[in-house]
Formats: sequence, structure tokens, C-alpha cells
Amino acid sequence: KTIDDGCFQWSAPSNIALVKYWGKKENQIPANPSISFTLNNCKTITKLSFFKKVNDGNFSFDLLFEGKPKEDFKPKIQKFFERIYAYCSYLKDFHFTIETENTFPHSSGIASSASGMAALSVNIMSLEKALHPEMSEEFFNKKASFLARLGSGSACRSVKGEVVVWGNHAEINGSSDLFGVEFSSNIHETFKNYQDTILLVDKGEKQVSSTVGHDLMHNHPFAEQRFEQAHQNLSKLKTVLETGNLEEFVAIVESEALTLHAMMMTSMPYFILMKPNTLEIINRIWKFRNETKIPVCFTLDAGANVHVLYSENDSESVLQLIKEELVGFCQNGNYICDNLGNGAIQI
Ligand code: PMV
Repeated sequence: KTIDDGCFQWSAPSNIALVKYWGKKENQIPANPSISFTLNNCKTITKLSFFKKVNDGNFSFDLLFEGKPKEDFKPKIQKFFERIYAYCSYLKDFHFTIETENTFPHSSGIASSASGMAALSVNIMSLEKALHPEMSEEFFNKKASFLARLGSGSACRSVKGEVVVWGNHAEINGSSDLFGVEFSSNIHETFKNYQDTILLVDKGEKQVSSTVGHDLMHNHPFAEQRFEQAHQNLSKLKTVLETGNLEEFVAIVESEALTLHAMMMTSMPYFILMKPNTLEIINRIWKFRNETKIPVCFTLDAGANVHVLYSENDSESVLQLIKEELVGFCQNGNYICDNLGNGAIQI
């Protein structure tokens, strides 16, 4: 089919890893499998408008962030187009206008690369589907995730599903290093509408980009043990998600977060990405959990912010802890309430 012009608009959410992806091989192939909860409120909304042009061998696009031209994002998109061109040969036949915005505050310390690359990828797949109307939904989702992975590894977990696995794992049917797959086992009702409150401890620029971070796993003294551990933790978490064993959930998720940071502390060069307030929050979560027996836990990205994970049933008491105690350790008292979501949505 030929198309002269048109536009699509999608939102795609961020995600938070439970078993962390840290370390990669050539072509954005992960060194170990990972699994994440898809978020609901933290998302990128991207509109892709396009019209036909002569294929002059170049990519042609404009980029607007929150309605304004954003020159410094352009090289990232250019690089993304170059990477995916082998799989999307129609890209040079159109001029694109990419208009994008995030629902979470700019420079909040929340990475927008996962939601941003996922939102752009589903838009591109909408164009591909317009060119090939017979395309199945399964193909659409797999290829959107495949393209998103080439933009930013973890973005491949933001396309479809509440819980998503990325990376080959013997016990996860259909799992692949090339794209994320929805965790297909029955998820225990304990995790229904699971809550993630993100405490913004440090809103500054990332001290270490994830590209540099992944590279630090090459020749890392503990790399092989770490990759093996991720496989084991994913096996255990699979059972936990099916049975609803929150005690085990807490243990695996917190250990994964601290291991991610331990990898950064033991690489060369080494980094400490937690701040004093990160540790304050962690200690208070532990104290609260000991006293109340409420199975709330934390996880971390490659930064100082803390994700507080808990069941919807425990919302009242955990939010009280957050508002009365933890908020004091957040930059300007800022935090974001989020919960399990289902992936990208066409608007
Ligand atoms: O997708 P990247 O390359 O930005 O890497 C993200 C890595 C972590 O967020 C630290 C962990 C993960 O699995 O999301």
C-alpha cells in the first residue's frame, strides 16, 4: 500500500525493573534476562506526523519537545533511525515531525529513554502497519519492542503487558534477547494494581549514563556471578509472582537493587549513585516493615531515587509513612505516585 501523509499518536509508560538489566553485548543484546513492572502514570506521549518525500538517502525529521524545537535530542533520534533502518526500509521515504512530551516533570531524575523510545517505536510500527495492513497484533508488538530495544535496552519492556521479561531464560516461554515478552503466567492477585511511589531524592543529571554503566560490566570482576544470579533470581521471581509470596518478593527485589549498586561500587572506575537520603529512606522502610509487618520494599534505578513498592491494600499506611517521614528526604518534598499499567496506548 502507498501512503502520502498522516499522523499517529501514542503514549508509552516507563517501567521499573525487579531483576535488573546491567551489562550488554553488541547490538543491545542483554548480558542477562530482566523482568519489570510496567508503570501507568509516568509516560511519554508522542505524535508522529509524516509526509512522503523523495528518498535522497537521508533521514528527514523535526523534533519538538513540549511544543518547542529540541536540537539537542536530534542526534539520539538520528542514531536510532540509523540503527533501525535495516528493519524499516521505508524511513527515508518520509519527512517526520516528532512531537513529544512526558507526564512526569522534566529533569526529575526519572529516565525518559524507556518511555520515549517505546512511544516512538509504536508510532513507527503504526506507519508500517498502514503500509502493510495485514500485519498481526503479535507481530506489531514484537517488532515495536525489538525497535525500542535498539533505542534503549529497557524500552523494550515498555510496549505491552503489566509484567514484561526481556532476555532468554529457560523457564520463560517465548523469552528472547531481541524483544520483551509479556509474562504469561497467572499473576497472583496480591500484585493486582501494585503501587510504586517514586521518591525523588536527587533530580540532577545522571552521574553515570547507562551506556557507560553497561560498559563497566566488561571485565568486571564479578560479572559472571552477577549474570548467573540474575537468571536464578528470575526463576525465583517467576514462582513468587505466581504464588504471591511477598516475603520472598521483598527479598529478591531489594537484593537486586543493592546488587545493581554494588556492581557500580566495585567496577573500575567506581561510582556511588546513592545519596545519604537514599540510605535514610531505605533504613526507614526497613524499620517500618519490622514494626508493622507490612511487606513494603524498595528498588532503585541507576540513581539516587527510591521506588517504594507495595500492595494497594497497604496504601493507606504506606502513604502515611511516606507523607509523614520519607517526604522529608525528597528534593523539595517531591514524589510521584504510580501503579501497574499495561503498556503503550494509541490515542
Ligand atoms: O535501558 P538502559 O540502557 O537505560 O538501562 C537501564 C538499566 C536499569 O534501569 C538500571 C535497569 C533496568 O533493567 O531497567
